Amino acid sequence: MTSSAQTLTRRHMLSGAAGLAALGAGWIGAPRVASARQADNLARVDALIARMTIQEKAGQLNLLADPFRFRPQNVNPLDGQGDPARVTQMIREGTVGNLFNGIGADAGRRIQTIAVEESRLGIPLLFAADIIHGLKTVFPVPLAEAAAFDPDLAQRTARAAAVEGAASAVHQTYAPMVDVARDQRWGRVVEGAGEDVWLNEVLSAARVRGFQGERGLADRDALLATPKHFAAYSAAIAGMDYNTTDMSEATLRGVFLPPFKAAFEAGALSVMSGFNALNGVPVTGNPWLLTDILRDEWGFAGFVVSDYTSENELIAHGFAADGRDAARIALLAGVDMSMVSGLYLEHIPDLVAKGDVPLARVDQAVRRVLMTKAALGLFDNPYRGCDPRRERAVVGSKAHHDLAREAGVKSIVLLKNEGALLPLKPSGQKIALIGPFGDDVDNIFGPWTIWGDESRRVSLEAGFRAAMADAGDLVVVKGSEVEAELAGGIEAAVLAAGQADVVVLAIGESTRMSGEAQSRTEIDIPAPQRALAEAVAATGKPVVVLLRNGRALELAGPVKDAPAIVVTWFLGSEMGHAVADVVFGKVSPSGRLPVSFPHRSGQSPYSYDHRITGRPADNSLATQEYVARYRETTNTALYPFGHGLTYGAVTYGAVTPSETSLAWDGSVELSVSVTNTGDRAVEETVQLYIHDRVASLVQPGRRLRDVRKVTLAAGETKAAVFTLRRSQLEFIGGDGRPTVEPGVFNVWLTSSAQAGTPVTVRLAPPA
Ligand code: NOJ
Repeated sequence: MTSSAQTLTRRHMLSGAAGLAALGAGWIGAPRVASARQADNLARVDALIARMTIQEKAGQLNLLADPFRFRPQNVNPLDGQGDPARVTQMIREGTVGNLFNGIGADAGRRIQTIAVEESRLGIPLLFAADIIHGLKTVFPVPLAEAAAFDPDLAQRTARAAAVEGAASAVHQTYAPMVDVARDQRWGRVVEGAGEDVWLNEVLSAARVRGFQGERGLADRDALLATPKHFAAYSAAIAGMDYNTTDMSEATLRGVFLPPFKAAFEAGALSVMSGFNALNGVPVTGNPWLLTDILRDEWGFAGFVVSDYTSENELIAHGFAADGRDAARIALLAGVDMSMVSGLYLEHIPDLVAKGDVPLARVDQAVRRVLMTKAALGLFDNPYRGCDPRRERAVVGSKAHHDLAREAGVKSIVLLKNEGALLPLKPSGQKIALIGPFGDDVDNIFGPWTIWGDESRRVSLEAGFRAAMADAGDLVVVKGSEVEAELAGGIEAAVLAAGQADVVVLAIGESTRMSGEAQSRTEIDIPAPQRALAEAVAATGKPVVVLLRNGRALELAGPVKDAPAIVVTWFLGSEMGHAVADVVFGKVSPSGRLPVSFPHRSGQSPYSYDHRITGRPADNSLATQEYVARYRETTNTALYPFGHGLTYGAVTYGAVTPSETSLAWDGSVELSVSVTNTGDRAVEETVQLYIHDRVASLVQPGRRLRDVRKVTLAAGETKAAVFTLRRSQLEFIGGDGRPTVEPGVFNVWLTSSAQAGTPVTVRLAPPA
């Protein structure tokens, strides 16, 4: 990383006019315009900038949590943002240009009116919100939805969330989170698309397309997307949220950056910088990331917003001396908008007056923010999203709830189903629904819902009752709290299990056990629930485990040994219906794990695509010594990435490549036949993995490069056909650049990261 490290040091050391001159005019950069509309917007914006005072400029770069509609728990003393009267005054003065986490058409109009009618320049406010997996209608948490391996679904749920948000006076969402999550201890795994780079890229682009829509940002249903947290935030050492990150440039560019690039290629026009330091430089003060890569390499034209006071945290990092220094470093690095800290407002005038930040850099940041407001159509229609009739018509619509149910069904992953215990019969079978999540509604939305409609949460019990013919066949017993014992709970559970034909054990994590600041040292099921599972298993009744979870879990003892295990995550508003649809066989399960379930917590961080070692072990060699394994387990997964069963079975034929040699600019077709040997319609997700056998950097054992969804009627056989090209064989080399090397590649078309037998394809050198 020599050259980038040098650039970084040079930039960080800069201060004063001489240093700033060294940045060169190119760094300040002329704005690019791609259309007549953008040229008009630019003329309008530049005319405004010419009239703005330095305080008004700082105001456009200042973002506060909305005190009118959403009060943050910890009001920041720097700016009194929890005080509506104070913020009203700031809007009038033009010292705040952006508010977040307030919603509502009526309130939006009231607050926007202050900016448009009562401030000197009448610049509209930008309203942002954390709309992560739905607004009032709550869709599955992003990790769950990733299990559908279905970009079209992700795009549709993002679209529905955007329609609800945009009708509720929101212009920007702080989503998607595109942090590739390889350590399941990290609580925010739940907010993203899991451990795989390719799946993150594909879903990142789909979600951006969904939020922003296809009719331009000025469309009434569009939300500006904000991929976050740039960059490598999820690589927090030991999985502890906010922890520092340290990695090679090849890993940064090969694993953590691609989903951001995919988001920008899909049109995302804002991005959030993270809390973490990367290789010793906090990303919110990191010009190499925020300017060299983001602007100069990728040509990103939108604005960068810090994450909740992350510029202020440069002080705690020991990277800035005080608030003024922190504002200087963040601004010079490339952060355009400051979230909550108030530091930009407080210090920009003096930083510019003393020559520590060039006015041109402030103007550039203001231009980016105002150009985005213009792209959203706010100068022409500042009251977009402020029509309560439209808000009532679209928010929580039947179409959105139907979609939440469909997405819920597609997110469910069947890990195990011995003796075809599932599906259960909707009648004639006595079911004991046991565990803390049976009648619970507090843990079906999962983390990151501020406005979900709590009156429309479907519990498992409600879903089961709606699906079952005779309500008398279901008994519901809690048995245990999530993290504490329940007096008499186990006795009641054992009694109920004894009288039932089958037990459905709904156990796992509560909403609060994943999400921001919710890292865990062990990714296991809490002890009181393990005791419950033990007691229920001892009754000898067949047990179906329904896991509630925001990350991969370590499964042990009677949970691991249960004949049927289903991953149900947090599925949102329609959770109970979606689970019942699968459990009672209305729909065959089709989800696949977007994260590996390791044997033991201590394998973390774990991802299927870790680089191979010189002492590889394999699954069957538990007693082999002097290989890369633990004393207690091989370093494989109990349930690997990509795994997921359905009702009945799907078998794979041999993989046939059209040719065994791939020309440099050519392609090879690979095909495999898949057969549904069961008696129900199913959907199979065929996965294409590659491995570069000999390369100039040690490669992962496998990398996912494509998938095909195949729907199969009972007894049907179809071919899944893939096209392999050189671009899919590329990796990031030691110099940080995309590399592809001629030679032999293993290629799998198979059902999971641990299944299948490879064929070989030789990439020929350029002719
Ligand atoms: C902090 C979180 O890290 C980020 O994801 C979120 O968007 C902001 N807070 C705003 O709520």
